[in-house]
Amino acid sequence: MTDRAEADTVAFEIVDGVAWVRFNRPEKRNCMSPKLNRRMMEVLDALEFDPAVGVLVLTGEGTSWTAGMDLKEYFRDTEALGLKGSRGAQRESYGWWRRLRWYQKPTIAMVNGWCFGGGYGPLFACDLAFAAEDAQFGLSEINWGILPGGGAAKVATELTSFRRAMYHAMMGENIDGKTAVEWGFVNEALPLDQLKTRVNEVAQVLLKKNPVALKATKDSIRRVREMTYDNAEDYLIRAQEAANSYDNEGRKEGIKQFIDDKSYKPGLGAYDTSKQKG
Ligand code: ACO
Repeated sequence: MTDRAEADTVAFEIVDGVAWVRFNRPEKRNCMSPKLNRRMMEVLDALEFDPAVGVLVLTGEGTSWTAGMDLKEYFRDTEALGLKGSRGAQRESYGWWRRLRWYQKPTIAMVNGWCFGGGYGPLFACDLAFAAEDAQFGLSEINWGILPGGGAAKVATELTSFRRAMYHAMMGENIDGKTAVEWGFVNEALPLDQLKTRVNEVAQVLLKKNPVALKATKDSIRRVREMTYDNAEDYLIRAQEAANSYDNEGRKEGIKQFIDDKSYKPGLGAYDTSKQKG
């Protein structure tokens, strides 16, 4: 086919509170071009505060999640424009990955197939990740002569052990979905035909939780990893107090339904957020 229009490089639909966002260049294995990166930022922007969206799932059209950066359009074509071209392209891709790392809504990577190199950015940016058992993950940079940049080296060392990250980056060998679970890249691996059902099940559970608490929780888990214990203890007090300024009734309702109404047990599930006042 002829080159896809920018607006068509990302597809999405909203179903039952879940935004299903897809890398949409299946004919190019969903590799990330500057057009796709710009479009993804617009889509994330549009969905972030849409009241119809409670959870965002990022997946890929066709056989690939994403084959990483577009070697032609992201590297060769922008490098031809000099430093300005390269830095501009980097800002666009790193920009939406960063946006996704700190997204207002919970995010789930649904890795349906190939996930290479630059794809580790959005993989890490998503709060949870589920993969097809046959999906393939690879830091293939070494295979074509560069280092795992764009955060990919950092993601590997964040998610798995030093030895595994080093082997993965130096050898350029892929791992499948099951191994990705063992290495900590994803939460679960399932047969491809069960993947969407499982991800939707997880999303529906998240939709029942207090959304202010979810945002505070996901940010906390990311932030405290780089803090000392004492700094984390302090940050978590401040983060909860800040969350209270947006939602001061939720936790009171949560306490009431457990202690007074005895209608649920926090150890076994979430309180009924529909009964919350304010
Ligand atoms: N950049 C540019 N074009 C790509 C990319 C990419 N990353 N990945 C796939 N394509 C293109 C191919 O050139 C081909 O284009 P064409 O139809 O115009 O010839 C088309 O997508 C289909 O790709 P095939 O290779 O034919 O698909 P196949 O299913 O056989 O293989 C695979 C899939 C293994 C993903 C292969 O395409 C591949 O190795 N892609 C590159 C993966 C990679 O190393 N990405 C870079 C990681 S490093 C980084 O992101 C910084």
